[in-house]
This record gives sequence, C-alpha cells and structure tokens, in this order.
Amino acid sequence: MASTNSHEQHRLRRALLNNFFSKRSVMDLEETIQAKVNMLQNRFMGAFREKLVLNIPSVFAALTADVITHYSHGKSLGYLDVPDFKNDMMEALDSLFRIFHINRFLPMLAVMLSRPPFWIIEMLHLPEGLFGEMIEARLRTRKRAADALNKKGKTTGKPETIFDALTAVSVPEKERTLSRLVDEASVLFGAGTETTARTLSVAAFYLAKDKDLRQKLFDELTQVMPSPASQPKWAELERLPFLTGVIQEALRLSYGLSTRLARIAPTEALFYKSFVIPPGTPVSQSVYFVHHDPSIFPNPERFDPERWIRATEEGVNLRKYMVSFGKGSRQCLGMK
Ligand code: HEM
Repeated sequence: MASTNSHEQHRLRRALLNNFFSKRSVMDLEETIQAKVNMLQNRFMGAFREKLVLNIPSVFAALTADVITHYSHGKSLGYLDVPDFKNDMMEALDSLFRIFHINRFLPMLAVMLSRPPFWIIEMLHLPEGLFGEMIEARLRTRKRAADALNKKGKTTGKPETIFDALTAVSVPEKERTLSRLVDEASVLFGAGTETTARTLSVAAFYLAKDKDLRQKLFDELTQVMPSPASQPKWAELERLPFLTGVIQEALRLSYGLSTRLARIAPTEALFYKSFVIPPGTPVSQSVYFVHHDPSIFPNPERFDPERWIRATEEGVNLRKYMVSFGKGSRQCLGMK
C-alpha cells in the first residue's frame, strides 16, 4: 500500500484496511493493548527488583510489535516474553534504515533487497548481521502469509484480523498474492513498531531527565489512577491536558519519518508566495524543519508539554502544524 504509485490502486488497497484503523476499532483493541501493557509493567517491576539496565527503545518495540502482530494475524509474536527484549525484526529494520540515504538516490537498491539475489547483498558489504536477520525475518513473515493464504474456509463474513481482510474472497484475486501479503505484513510491522516505540522512548527520555515534568504528570495521572494497579480507560486518559501535552511533545520531537515525503499535483499548478509550481513537480518538506520552526513552536528544542495547554487557552490550533503523520490521502493509517 505505502509504496503503490497509482492513486486508484492505492485507494483500493487502503480501503481494505481502513476499518481496522478507525478510532472505534482502535478503542475496541483497548483490552488487548492493556493486557500487553500489564505484561510490560511486570517486566519493568522484575528489572527493577533485579537492578537490570534496560534498553528502552527495544522494550517499547516489544510492546508495539506484539500489539501490531496480534492485530495483523491474531497472534502476537511474543517479543514481550523474550528475556533481553531482543527483536530480530527491529534489528533487520534498523540495519536497513542505515542505508536509507543511499536508497534515496539509488531506488533500485530497495527493490533488490526486497527480492534479493543474495550475492548482491553480500557484495554491498552491508552492516554485519543485516544479511541473516533480514532474510530470516522475511522468511518467517512469508511463512505466516502463506498460512493465511492457505487457511481453510477463507473469510466471507466480517474479517477479524488484517490478514483475514487481505485474503478475503471479496478481494480481487490479483491482489491476493503471497508477495503482496508479505510486503503488506512487513510494512505494517515496520510502520506500527518503530514509530510508536520511538515516540514512547522520547517521552520516557524527557520524563526521566526532568523531575518536575515527572511530578506534574504523576499528579495528573493520580486523578484517574489512584493506585498503580488502576487501569483507566483511554476515554479518561485523553481528557488529561498535561498527558496530552506530553504525547504531543513526544510526537513533535520524534518526527515520525524525518525523510521528505513527496507529493505531486498531477494536473494543476500550485502557487506559493511568488512561485508557480508546475503540474507534475514533486514537492516535499522535512518534518524536522516544521517541528523546529520557532515561529510556530517557540524554543523548539525544549520538551514543553505546557505549550499545548497554553495554545488551547489562547485559542491557537497548534495541532494543525504537526506533520508527524503526514497529511492527505497517504497520511498515516495508524495514527489513531
Ligand atoms: C507515532 C506513531 C506513528 C507515526 C509518527 C507514523 C508516521 C507515519 C508517516 C509519516 C507515514 C507516511 C505518511 C505520508 O506519506 O504522508 C505513515 C504511513 C503509514 N503508517 Fe504510520 N506512523 C505511526 C504509527 C503507525 C501505526 C501504529 C501503524 C499501524 C500499523 C501505522 C501504519 C501506517 C501505514 C499502513 C502507512 C501507509 C499509509 C498509506 O500509504 O496509505 N503507523 N505513518
């Protein structure tokens, strides 16, 4: 879906998954997410008792990977149970991101890596470990995708998992191929794991660094969580202004995709100040420069949850400047 060029085909592919990512559907997933958060809490308590040092991005990636794999094919891959939170898929992705800047100028590289003649990968001298992890991760995803495709009694009613939706008999047959399912599973895993884990890690970093921030958040959370065992619903949490500010700041300073995401107006000219941008011209902007624009976010380097409270009081709609999830028809499907 994410790399489909034709708008029409992209619309068709996105429509298959739209329902899974509505606010309603995400709210329906709350129990599953809460169960995984409880597992994470137990792991944190265990580490605290044993005085272990944890690598926070891997810890949060275990949480997000288990949520998205549960949602995709009905069963988590169990990263929250792995003793040291080792996550082979994340390691494979991390290694791939290390050559992202080269790929921008040599787009064939990504094509070659996704359908690998293995000798080319070796010849490129990619970072150690990439070859094995990437191929293994790909093979495992392929196995799960093949199982979903071969599942007896294919879905005819309301699909329960994303794989069910992608393999339902109502989906045109040419869209139900093994390679497409593997691609979609990989995109969902990558898009649903690293991004959210990074945002949670950024929040954890600033909260760990600043006692006052931590205390303010703690005081606010106590309203809906009188004890550490309380399990407030999202409907209660989303009404808390300071927590909302923490989430917005974590999103602002984790950027989402920091690379430029081009948009093309195929038939109309665009006007910007005194410039005319002819039809068919790719236009793009980096999230970093928007989120660090001091005229929008004064003192932009500062993690300042209260800027969101001040903006609400002053009637300023700061959210419209947030581009972590992109904008338009290709905007993040998982933003809710
Ligand atoms: C903090 C969390 C997240 C951030 C910052 C983020 C960011 C993004 C960005 C920047 C894009 C590209 C948008 C564009 O081209 O304009 C995108 C696309 C996408 N994201 Fe997310 N994402 C997040 C979480 C998720 C989650 C949890 C999922 C669930 C699987 C997800 C699934 C997707 C998908 C499927 C696309 C492709 C959409 C399309 O091509 O129509 N994302 N995301």
